[in-house]
Amino acid sequence: MAKPLRIALAGLGTVGAGVIRLIETNASLIARRAGRTIEITAVSARDRHKDRGIDLSGYAWEDDMTAMAARDDVDAVVELVGGADGPALTLARNAIAHGKSLVTANKAMIAHHGLELAALSEQARVALKFEAAVAGGIPVIKGLREGAAANAIERLYGILNGTCNFILSTMEDTGRDFADVLAEAQAKGYAEADPGFDIEGTDAAHKLAILSAIAFGTRIDFASVETAGIARILAADIAQADALGYVIRLIGIAETDAADGTNRLFQRVQPYLVPFDHPLAHVDGATNAVVAEGNFSGRLLFQGAGAGDGPTASAVVADLIDIARGDLGGEAGAPFSIQVAEMEAMPPAPSGHRLGRAYIRFVVADRPGVLAEITAAMRDAGVSIESLIQKGRAETEGDVLVVMVTHEGPESGVREALRLLDGSASLKEAPLVMQILGD
Ligand SMILES: NC(=O)c1ccc[n+]([C@@H]2O[C@H](COP(=O)([O-])OP(=O)(O)OC[C@H]3O[C@@H](n4cnc5c(N)ncnc54)[C@H](OP(=O)(O)O)[C@@H]3O)[C@@H](O)[C@H]2O)c1
Repeated sequence: MAKPLRIALAGLGTVGAGVIRLIETNASLIARRAGRTIEITAVSARDRHKDRGIDLSGYAWEDDMTAMAARDDVDAVVELVGGADGPALTLARNAIAHGKSLVTANKAMIAHHGLELAALSEQARVALKFEAAVAGGIPVIKGLREGAAANAIERLYGILNGTCNFILSTMEDTGRDFADVLAEAQAKGYAEADPGFDIEGTDAAHKLAILSAIAFGTRIDFASVETAGIARILAADIAQADALGYVIRLIGIAETDAADGTNRLFQRVQPYLVPFDHPLAHVDGATNAVVAEGNFSGRLLFQGAGAGDGPTASAVVADLIDIARGDLGGEAGAPFSIQVAEMEAMPPAPSGHRLGRAYIRFVVADRPGVLAEITAAMRDAGVSIESLIQKGRAETEGDVLVVMVTHEGPESGVREALRLLDGSASLKEAPLVMQILGD
């Protein structure tokens, strides 16, 4: 058997500890599949004395994780610390500069610095792999880079954040409110103490920007992902969506838009109403799912656990097995499937001309004339109303909820109607708009 692949592991939290457990548990299977053993040489984290439930005595400890990159007894560095910048990025740059391959689960770092790291890795002819950064244990990056490599991908969308999906599907099952279910998600360890990245859609946007780059061959453009989170969704929205035949899911969607001859990229993360008969409507709990539509493959659906120590470690170690087999990520190394120099810079597509149906929820004062005011604004903006439902009391005494579903039309119409209503004394808060997911 060939020489072992020697790795250094930075970060020994949920994912790092999972990686050590996996490598120890499946050592002989991994060696047979990879053609050589994977051996951990050095580890690093913040607190050397923390009990992590794993025996670290066989591994060298580095207080300064960035020093691991320079070790002669390390072939590949695994970064499981997190954060777009800071020590994770310093370690990543150092590792590649020292000719080591790099495996990371860090979607924030890849979304912000992936192209720079990929270009460096291509020059250094080392691997840069990040399967675990998107959708945890689901091999969606491998699926797109390898399995679907022959296809032009026309559209890609999915459920990319397990925390939001857990919250929304629990609200659906129990009728409880957002804040209450968020507290449960935090207690169960699904949501971080600071859940902002998850519930505001940023985490899903990081993952979508990475997938877009691979699927469409475009340079990562995280800044252009139109992002909205789930914090404003009420139990009443979930109940109303249900009555209309939908569930609510936080969906990341990316597609090419060549309407006026230029090839533009539309990227959005937003809560959508998903019809009961759509495959994504049945993705519950912390599960993730990604749909990719290839021009020859047709619709591909990837589904599985989007987070957690075991599934995420599975993706990290799969990347290590590829490296042990000698795969640098393409003929001369191409972490995003296409060499960085060959990637297009697709301009962002505006959303105004996009056609769709929308769910709009208003909280309004309970007095005559309010519905007429709303419908007049819709009429003046050219929005055609499919249904209008005045539904029960809002949380505040004297307010009511009004829900509207529009016929298909340009998104700019709804925006114009809401602009006309802006400042109206009848509206008690900004309306909540959610698009309805089409076929
Ligand atoms: N958790 C998941 O399910 C999941 C899924 C997919 C991707 N990811 C990604 O995987 C990465 C790790 O996530 P995680 O959930 O394992 O995080 P975590 O449990 O918070 O662990 C982070 C680790 O990094 C160490 N660390 C943090 N800051 C450090 C610093 N300045 N210097 C040295 N060490 C530092 C911590 O050390 P101490 O333990 O000593 O504090 C800890 O061991 C992140 O990029 C995350 O986005 C996580």
